[in-house]
Amino acid sequence: MSNQFHHQPVLLTESIEQLDLSAGDVVVDGTLGGGGHAAAILECIAPDGVLVGLDVDAEALAAAHERLQPFGERAQLVHASFRRLDHVIRSLGLASVDAVLLDLGVSSHQLDVSGRGFRFAEMSRDETPLDMRMDTTRGRTAAELLRHASEEELQGFFQRYGELPGSRRLARAIAAEREREPLRTAADLLRVIDSARIGRGRRHNPATLVFQALRIAVNDELGALEDGLDAAVEVLRPGGRLVVIAYHSLEDRIVKHRFRAEAKGCICPPAQPVCTCGRKPRLRVDTRRPIRPSEEEVGANPRSRSALLRAAERIAEAI
Ligand SMILES: C[S@@+](CC[C@H](N)C(=O)[O-])C[C@H]1O[C@@H](n2cnc3c(N)ncnc32)[C@H](O)[C@@H]1O
Repeated sequence: MSNQFHHQPVLLTESIEQLDLSAGDVVVDGTLGGGGHAAAILECIAPDGVLVGLDVDAEALAAAHERLQPFGERAQLVHASFRRLDHVIRSLGLASVDAVLLDLGVSSHQLDVSGRGFRFAEMSRDETPLDMRMDTTRGRTAAELLRHASEEELQGFFQRYGELPGSRRLARAIAAEREREPLRTAADLLRVIDSARIGRGRRHNPATLVFQALRIAVNDELGALEDGLDAAVEVLRPGGRLVVIAYHSLEDRIVKHRFRAEAKGCICPPAQPVCTCGRKPRLRVDTRRPIRPSEEEVGANPRSRSALLRAAERIAEAI
C-alpha cells in the first residue's frame, strides 16, 4: 500500500519545531495520512515515546500502518475522527498528552488516486463517481447530497464553503438538472457548473470552489475542526503543544478565532461589569501570524502553497 500511497508532508520542519518534542512524549497525530509527520514525530520521541495516530480514511490508515511498522507498539493507530480524539485518548487509558498535530484537509493520495471524485479532471468526460467521503464507511456521498439536499441547503453550502459568486444560480441549475437525471459523476457536475455560467473570469475556477464546497459539506470538515480543537485543548497537559496546519481561509479563520478565544478566556460582553461565563485562558498563542512554507518548499511541492500553520501552548487554568 505504501508504495502506491503518495503524500509529501507539508511544513515538516516547522511542525516538528513547533511541537517542541522530547524523548518519551505522548503525541496525537489527528490526521495520519501517509504517516509522514507521524514518522518524524516518532523519531523525535524515541526511544519510548508513543504516537496515537488517527484517520477517518481506512486507506490512509493502512498506508500509515505499513510505514510505521518499524516503530512497533509505539505507534497506536485508530480509525476515528479527530473530533473524538479526547474519547480515543481516554479509551487508551491516558489522562493527557504532550502534543497534538492536526494537518487538515485531504492527502495527495485522496486527490489523485482514491477515485472518490475529490478533484475533477479538466476534460469533458470525467466519469469519476461523486463520492468525496474521507470515511467511506459512513455518511452521505456527494452524489447523494446533490440529490437530496434542498435547493436552499445547496446554495448555503456553495456560499459558505466555496464563497462562490452565483451560488443561487448554481443551486437552481442543479435542482433543475436532477429533475431530469441525477448527478452521478464529476462530468455531470461540471456540465451543470458550465451551464450555470457562474464566476467567469475570476481568479479561481468556479468548479474548484464548487468541488471544495461539496467536499467540506460531505465531510462536515468545519464542524469537525471546531470539535477537534475543543478535544485537543481538553487532552493537552499544561505546557503541551497544539499545532494546526490549515489549507484555506475558512479553516484558518476557525483556528485563529478559537486560539484567540482560548487565550482570552472570558467571553462575556465587554460592557458586562462581572464575568459570568467563568472561562479562564487555556492557551498561549505562539504564532501571531501563520507560518507559511518557504519558496523552496512550494517549488518542490506546489500543493504546500496554501498551507498556514498556527501553534499554541496549553497553559494551566488559573483558579
Ligand atoms: C493532509 S493529510 C495528512 C497528511 C499527513 N500529515 C502526512 O504527513 O502524510 C490529511 C489527512 O487527514 C484525514 N482527515 C481529514 N479529516 C479528518 C478527521 N476529522 N479525523 C481524522 N482524520 C481526518 C484525511 O483522511 C487525510 O488522510
